[in-house]
Formats: sequence, C-alpha cells, structure tokens
Amino acid sequence: MKSQENFILAIESSCDDTSAAVLCNDTVLSNVVATQHIHEQYGGVVPELASRAHQQNIVPVVHQALAKANIAKKQLSAIAFTRGPGLMGSLLVGTSFAKSMALGLGIPLIEVNHMQAHIMAHFIKGDEQPPPSFPFLAMTISGGHTQIILVKDHFNMEVLGETLDDAVGEAFDKSAKLLGLPYPGGPLIDEYAKKGNPKAFVFPKPKVEGLHFSFSGLKTSILYFIQKQQKANPDFVKENLHDICASIQFTILEILMDKLKLAVKTTKIKQIAIGGGVAANSGIRSRLKAAETDLGWTTYIPKFEYCTDNAAMIGIVGYYKYLQQDFASQNIAAKARYIL
Ligand code: KG4
Ligand code: ZN
Repeated sequence: MKSQENFILAIESSCDDTSAAVLCNDTVLSNVVATQHIHEQYGGVVPELASRAHQQNIVPVVHQALAKANIAKKQLSAIAFTRGPGLMGSLLVGTSFAKSMALGLGIPLIEVNHMQAHIMAHFIKGDEQPPPSFPFLAMTISGGHTQIILVKDHFNMEVLGETLDDAVGEAFDKSAKLLGLPYPGGPLIDEYAKKGNPKAFVFPKPKVEGLHFSFSGLKTSILYFIQKQQKANPDFVKENLHDICASIQFTILEILMDKLKLAVKTTKIKQIAIGGGVAANSGIRSRLKAAETDLGWTTYIPKFEYCTDNAAMIGIVGYYKYLQQDFASQNIAAKARYIL
C-alpha cells in the first residue's frame, strides 16, 4: 500500500485501564486512558468490577480520543483492538465494541496481541531516540507480565523466558501490601527506596533455570522476615521503611538484570528495549543507563505513557497490520491466554 494518511482508532481494555487512541500512520494524535480507581480499596484488580467500569468508560473514552485527534468517525481507515491476553470480561468489552463500530462504519477490524503491542510501542514515532533495529531483546515488565523476548522483526517474536508465577509488578505490589502500603505499591516502593540503603537487608534471589523468572518465593521471604522482626519490635516496618523498600527494590532489580545479562550472553544481542508499567521504575532506568557505559548495551525505554497499558501501542500494531492488509473477521473472539 502506498504511503498516505491512514487513521487508525485503537482500543485497549485487557485489564483495568480503558483506553482509546487515534493514530495517523505511526504518529499518535490522541491517547486517552481512563484508569479505574475502584480497585485501590481491594488491593488488586477485581475482574468483575473491571468489566463493569470498562462498559461505563468505553464510549466516553472513544469520543474523547476522536475529539482530541480532531478526527471524525467517517475518516477512520480501520479499528484495532486488544484481543488478548488479559481478563476475559475486560477483553469482551473492547472486543465487542470494536467489532460493532467497525461493522457500523464498514471499515476493517484489526486484532492485536497486547504483549506484542508493549514491544511495538518502541515504533511509535517520537522526537527522541530512533526505534531499535532488528534483532533486539525486549523485556516486558508489568503487573501482569514478565517476559524476555527475542524480536526478529515487527511480527516475528520469540519468548525466551517468562515468569513461572507472579509478575514483577505483582512482586512490587504484594511486597508493598505486606508493608501496609496502598495499591499499587510499586511506585511507592520506588519513591521510598530512593531514601534507603539497598544493602540494609538481604533477601534471597530465586534459582530459576535459564531465562525464566519466579517472584512468589521473594514475597514469602519478605513476609517471614517482617513477621520475625515485628516480634522483636512492633514498629520495625515504620522505623525502617526506606531501608526495607530499598532492599526489596535492589533484590528485584538484581533478578531482572541477572536475567538480562544472561540473555545478552546467550544471544550476543546488546540492544535492550523495555516496556510495561515497571519500566517506570527509577532504579531499572538508571541500571539500564549504567549498562550502556559499563556493558556496551544500547537501551530503549519508551515514554512513560507508552509503558503502562495504553491504546497507542495497540494502534501502532494496528498500523503495521493495516499496511499488510492483515484484517480480522467479525467472527473473531477474545482470548484470555494469547501466546505471542
Ligand atoms: O503496565 P501496567 O500499567 O499494567 C499491567 O499490569 O499490565 O503496570 C502496572 C504495574 C503495577 O504493578 C505497578 O506497581 C508497577 O507497574 N509500577 C511500578 C512503578 N510504576 C508502576 N513498579 C515499580 N516502580 C515504579 N515506579
Ligand atoms: Zn500490559
């Protein structure tokens, strides 16, 4: 297809963010995200509540995205949506909405894998660093995923390793919960860690084969550690919050960096791109920056708004699929488990 102005409306509803974006080719015109705060009081995402909130949010969010982009529905070339992986009830809202709207407008429908989108976020046109060249290594780190992926081209990706239990964002959030911090605790641990000593307390690193991860043991060892300390001093957490947070964050970052180093060693690829909500962590950002000088890596971190769940990343996959005329049929169904 010749280069021209293609307007893609993208919809993301896989977890607890309802998002819609409009792209003109690889440029984002708007990217509206409605974060569902209802889950905060429960200390984690409640699937049933997430589906209901998506249903309330989806129409206003799509309207806002179109209005901000100053694009009318009739100008749209196609509609891209997250097919999976994610929470089934949440995915159903976005999937059904996208199918109906594409049918109503008589335009193509494009299905997108959410994990591929986290990686493709690096290809959104920006004014900063150019995108990584192929092949490169991607590490997606969020509340729902932890994977190291070999990216051979836009559509050819191989998962080299992933978590066997909790995602890294869950490790942050569950540790924070043990410390009495509100959900999501990852950003708070990051903030308090800046004022603490990362070597104050030592937590064991899991022994997991190859490029796989495991974070559930870490949570348990933090729980036992806190219980033990609190027996001797009930105010232990309060008095040592900064040092505990710094030590937890240090352990998690060591786990991530060890696996990245192993991935570089086995693939001989030194281009590293990260994505997902945990990519916002200041510690991982400075570790990766340091690896540029210390290890000769080239690292890529998308803008924060494209790290956390957002529809712009769905739109960029939509654009590349649009160029290939890779369209979905109206029979398509959401997939809670959708392997890359
Ligand atoms: O990508 P995301 O918005 O949603 C999914 O889980 O897919 O990621 C949210 C996760 C949460 O676990 C949150 O605690 C974590 O990202 N997070 C952080 C930071 N900011 C967000 N974790 C550590 N440090 C941060 N600065
Ligand atoms: Zn995600």
